Amino acid sequence: MNPLLHLTETQGAILDTARAFCAAEIAPFAAQWDRDAHFDPTLVGKLGELGFLGMMLPEAYDGLGLDAVTYLLALEEISAADASVGVLMSVHNSLPSQLILKFGTDAQKAEFLGPLARGEILGAFALSEPDAGSDAASMRAQAVRDGDGWILNGTKAWISAGGHAGVILAMARTDTPDARRGSKGIGAFILTPDLPGFKVGKKENKMGLRASETVQLVFDNMRVPGCRLLGDPAQGFAYALQTLEHGRLGIAAQALGIARAAFEHAAAYAAERQQFGRPIGEFQGIQFKLADMATRINAARSLIHATAAAKDRGLPVGEYASMCKLFATETAMWVTTQAIQVFGGYGYTTDYPVEKLFRDAKVTEIYEGTSEIQRIVIGRAALKGRG
Ligand code: CAA
Repeated sequence: MNPLLHLTETQGAILDTARAFCAAEIAPFAAQWDRDAHFDPTLVGKLGELGFLGMMLPEAYDGLGLDAVTYLLALEEISAADASVGVLMSVHNSLPSQLILKFGTDAQKAEFLGPLARGEILGAFALSEPDAGSDAASMRAQAVRDGDGWILNGTKAWISAGGHAGVILAMARTDTPDARRGSKGIGAFILTPDLPGFKVGKKENKMGLRASETVQLVFDNMRVPGCRLLGDPAQGFAYALQTLEHGRLGIAAQALGIARAAFEHAAAYAAERQQFGRPIGEFQGIQFKLADMATRINAARSLIHATAAAKDRGLPVGEYASMCKLFATETAMWVTTQAIQVFGGYGYTTDYPVEKLFRDAKVTEIYEGTSEIQRIVIGRAALKGRG
């Protein structure tokens, strides 16, 4: 047991549950899901039964009402077994659920939070567009008032689980083309796939995270009832960025799970693989790699848990969440690269798990804000004397 982890009784029980679930329901299938790019929709109900899809939602909505540290511990564990399941859990818990919890009306919370927490529906988040990635405020999806509702047109891109989601939190412009207001002219809408004009578009064929389905969503004259607008029609961008602070902590924990799995595989292999008449782990060149991997992984976890604990105390942690994502995801990329090196030629084959971890790690440096975007957030805060 890692002495840096001071687990409460609840955290220990959650981790035991996560480990048992991973052993029975994820680890035996993850390699095949990856080969087939297969998303298993039954996971949603199973994760919901464990409470893992409502970890931070209040008990009044059938959530577990847990803190961010406990949620991130569970997410690390699930992601170590399969990062595709990790991203499902992270997006669902961190983005749509938190957006509705923080900014929704009582009626919106009553309608959506229970089903989200119980895993009856999966949640998705639709901010990016084909031409609006890092520059999210340049989105073009347009919402036009229509009586007491809205008509939405546009295409959202890179939507994790968008084709399986029962609720999608989507951002669209509410300003007019002749009076653009930048980030101040964007609203957030609670969409469901039954709305007329809602279509699932292109499915991406990805390098990694292949068991997580990533699609475009097309809004074709989609009529959205007025009760589906979230909060102020001009504040959707601020809601999205504020909620992404939560999301970035989740992706940091996902990356940590990937890194830890790669380290554990590399350490076990180094202890058993014989070359020059002894286990390769007896060579300093390999020991130094394992030492650097372990050090970076523990540094990443310590930063994540300290930031999550500050968030649990109600403190603003925006730039620290960005530091967590930046450091943990670059750690995952570095550790998985080193793990392949420890395995040598075998690591480069699909017979061993480290090449999948390497492919899965890469996207963590890209989605929910690239490493460059995290550096912008951290750098801007530094200029204001924070950090
Ligand atoms: N909380 C609340 N408001 C915030 C905020 C936050 N964390 N960050 C910014 N805002 C507000 C600002 O205060 C500003 O309002 P004011 O003008 O009143 O001050 C407004 O939002 C615009 O902010 P900026 O001027 O900083 O906006 P910008 O255009 O310069 O962009 C950015 C800032 C950091 C680059 C931002 O666009 C960004 O984070 N881009 C990356 C987008 C991203 O992370 N996409 C992820 C897609 S989701 C995904 O990947 C999910 C998945 O499926 C895995």
